Amino acid sequence: MSRDMYRQRILDHYRDPQNYGTIDDPDVTYEDVNPSCGDEIQMYAVVDENDEIQDVKFDGQGCAISQASASLLTEEVKGMTLDEVRQLETDDIKEMLGIELSPVRVKCAVLGLKVLEGGIVEYEKEN
Ligand code: FES
Repeated sequence: MSRDMYRQRILDHYRDPQNYGTIDDPDVTYEDVNPSCGDEIQMYAVVDENDEIQDVKFDGQGCAISQASASLLTEEVKGMTLDEVRQLETDDIKEMLGIELSPVRVKCAVLGLKVLEGGIVEYEKEN
């Protein structure tokens, strides 16, 4: 994909996010804010007996990068195991977005991943 196509995809995910909403009685739930701007994301996930993510949703509010990254991330992690999700890193998110990001924007981009991983840590403490 060209850089313009990546940009367009980010805008599409921002305007029409995938897996946006909440899950009743989720196994994994967590929320966090980016302290520098106040953007927030909540993540919810259902985990099966093999520790695979069966369903995942997010909600929140903020900039195009934080919201589009969360939307792309939810598409990516469906069917992954919790271990696989924990191994995702900033570079994976950058790759999903496909555009150059300043350090400030990288923080926006990884907010969703930070929240999901925070939820997984909590889930594993309890199970
Ligand atoms: Fe706040 Fe992007 S400006 S997360």
